[in-house]
Amino acid sequence: MRRDNYRIFSEGEIAELSLPNRLVRSATWDPSIVNSRQMSKEVLNLYKELALGGVGLIITGGFTVCNQQSAEDDSNGWLLGYDGLRVEGIEELAETVHSSVADCSVIAQVENGSVNAAPSEFTSAFSKRTYRQLTVEEIGDIVHCFVEAIVDMKKSGFDGVQIHAAHGSLLARFLSPITNNRNDAYGGSISNRTKIIRDIVTSARKSVGKFPILIKVNCTDYLVGGTDIDSFPDLATEIERAGVDAIEVSGGMWECLFRSEKELGFRPVPAPESHTRIGSTEKQSYFLKYIEKLDIAIPIILVGGNRDIERLEEIIGKGEVDFIALSRPLIREPDLPNRWLEGRGSQRTDCISCNSCIYSMHHHSDRLVTCVHKDDKSLHGVAQEWLSTWVERVSRRQ
Ligand SMILES: Cc1cc2nc3c(=O)[nH]c(=O)nc-3n(C[C@H](O)[C@H](O)[C@H](O)COP(=O)(O)O)c2cc1C
Repeated sequence: MRRDNYRIFSEGEIAELSLPNRLVRSATWDPSIVNSRQMSKEVLNLYKELALGGVGLIITGGFTVCNQQSAEDDSNGWLLGYDGLRVEGIEELAETVHSSVADCSVIAQVENGSVNAAPSEFTSAFSKRTYRQLTVEEIGDIVHCFVEAIVDMKKSGFDGVQIHAAHGSLLARFLSPITNNRNDAYGGSISNRTKIIRDIVTSARKSVGKFPILIKVNCTDYLVGGTDIDSFPDLATEIERAGVDAIEVSGGMWECLFRSEKELGFRPVPAPESHTRIGSTEKQSYFLKYIEKLDIAIPIILVGGNRDIERLEEIIGKGEVDFIALSRPLIREPDLPNRWLEGRGSQRTDCISCNSCIYSMHHHSDRLVTCVHKDDKSLHGVAQEWLSTWVERVSRRQ
């Protein structure tokens, strides 16, 4: 049975952007182009396939805007700002999507690269390193790198940008009370912790005007003392005040993977935002409960474990969520939106949420991320072993 009359297949809007349906490809890293800083035919083909597959909006994998590469660079400012990191031929990505399907939009995700400092000094259980506190001048440099990237994404033909402020990113660390103990204008209150986002958006708006600027944030850090279900509504309100056009709700700081499955309520394997063992309905759409108390007017994009079209239609029908984002299901089946629309096959995605795609991302820096479970079956066992021993290996690392 076709699903043409489903609300999920009705038009939606983000700022002045009209989208043909409510399905969004959530950012999924493209290691080959970020590492080589050059666009590739394989990546262009993937984005063409995604557009033809019926998704209304594609959010690209994160593009790096600043990089401070080694411990020795610690006090020498940014080794590479956005100019030195720009992917050659990036404009072909936007052009490919638009020429494949005229009403499919594409938004570029912008994120920091490796940085040896943090909002306040902290030692990461993950990297085992102690990060020193950023100076106010360095915060200004970071803002500048994000703004340069946003301006370039507009020039390169993208329909908008998404600021990556979730998971373990530097901006996520500013937003979280657990990693931001500064006592200046960038720390303390929720308003101060969001100042870096306000600075980026305010400064970018001077050049890009109403160009859509989205953000991805944590609704929970899964860490004691971090952002959680009680503090997230106030954080979301401040984020809206910063002037962004839509908020994608994700969760999990990398350090949470050192907690037990019992404490977390999910299996601690890479990555914390991509839960495995998504079986029952309750385990699907696992960040849904965190948006129930939000009081914001900008569109909400729900990501994480969205797996069953009938369940998703129900969620969209209730009106609390405006868009549904998918990452792993579209690695498995880039044409899933059309398959669901046309009523072909199961109402559930074929993706089994095993996270072997994350193994693929970490081990094949020169290739596309693939669904190992489907395309490279002989590697699946190796990938699963790598995932399940990851926490132990990282804990042993000096
Ligand atoms: C292989 C892979 C790469 C990812 N790369 C990014 C990324 O570049 N930026 C980002 O914000 N999230 C990234 N994510 C997280 C996804 O966008 C998404 O939030 C998460 O996987 C949960 O959604 P899902 O259940 O639909 O996979 C990635 C996830 C996977 C599996």
